[in-house]
Amino acid sequence: MTGESKNWILMATARAPTNIAVIKYWGKRDEALILPINDSISVTLDPDHLSATTTVAVSPSFEKDRMWLNGKEISLSGGRYQNCLRELRNRAGEYTDENKGIHIEKYDWNKLHVHIASYNNFPTAAGLASSAAGFACLVFSLAKLMNVKEDLSQLSTIARQGSGSACRSLYGGFVKWTMGNEMSGSDSIAVQLANETHWDDLVIIVAVVSSRQKETSSTSGMRGSVETSSLIQHRAKVVVPSRILQMEQAIRNKDFSSFARLTCADSNQFHAVCLDTSPPIVYMNDTSHRHDLFHNYRIISILERWNRHEGTPMVAYTFDAGPNAVIVAPNQKVAIDLLQRLLFYFPPARDNELSSYVLGDKQILHEFG
Ligand code: ADP
Ligand code: DP6
Ligand code: CO
Repeated sequence: MTGESKNWILMATARAPTNIAVIKYWGKRDEALILPINDSISVTLDPDHLSATTTVAVSPSFEKDRMWLNGKEISLSGGRYQNCLRELRNRAGEYTDENKGIHIEKYDWNKLHVHIASYNNFPTAAGLASSAAGFACLVFSLAKLMNVKEDLSQLSTIARQGSGSACRSLYGGFVKWTMGNEMSGSDSIAVQLANETHWDDLVIIVAVVSSRQKETSSTSGMRGSVETSSLIQHRAKVVVPSRILQMEQAIRNKDFSSFARLTCADSNQFHAVCLDTSPPIVYMNDTSHRHDLFHNYRIISILERWNRHEGTPMVAYTFDAGPNAVIVAPNQKVAIDLLQRLLFYFPPARDNELSSYVLGDKQILHEFG
């Protein structure tokens, strides 16, 4: 390393969107490497809206690795952050800036410390896959800073070691995470099935029921399911493999009714596995309902009724590890009709101002008080 002064600093910034699984990942066969028990498929959301933005910096004046999440310093001592940092440092490239007189050799990255600052523009740890956006962004920005010359598929194996779902957020559009067979995890990678232009009529509505942090993290929830649920074995071995094939076909053919049927069924089976866990895990809790003297509606029952009503086009819904609904409508018109229907059942309360964001013309994020 040259640059005798300790005054220089190099920075890189990246933004990564979250992704929502339509065939869910739930259960690991290797906790340390984060290797799943089944393949999964997701849709990556629009980067303008539900995303993490991460700035990473390196300087010889930094005394240790540090990270701030949403403005608060967090510990990097957890294995996941350490694993990502180690993998990236192992692949770092040399860097030269003749104007500034900076030269970093490959092996220097093991001596230099990084500072990481990340912000999510949506609720963290509330079941909207902040870990997916967060680790994809962390890995991508550090790879840029450290001059890592790997392709996205290789970076996906590193992001996977931060949070499983993160490997899918390196690509836009429809993405499959293949579970792989290797003990090392080298073939447990994300693959893009179709890019974001492939099926661009689809509109995603994110119905935020609660932005509170969930009680059971995805990590500990799925560990409990693997240890105690018998349904999860049947799901991973029998149900998911056939759904993956059907879902790939539905996406290829833009077959919305198959897409919706598979998406809803898979979300419901994932929550059934949670209930089959001991002690049971309930992510779709009371906050997914609206209780008062006159109403007792659940988003699911409204959507199921909508789908059963003759003449209404189908919509798909899916819930991750939290009470918030992600709804996929086949086009803008259906999305607006549906949003009106939801607003009828969940009218904006005076004292509880309903915030709504129209996310580009593709995604609508709605908060139901
Ligand atoms: P979620 O449903 O939001 O993905 P998880 O329980 O899976 O919830 O993960 C939440 C954890 O992910 C956080 O506690 C934090 O460790 C990590 N995380 C979230 N956002 C970021 C980010 N922007 N950068 C790095 N890590 C993040
Ligand atoms: C329900 O990727 O958050 O969102 O790998 O332990 O970090 P870790 O878990 P995480 O789990 C996501 C679970 C899910 C389904 C999915 O995204 O496929
Ligand atoms: Co997560």
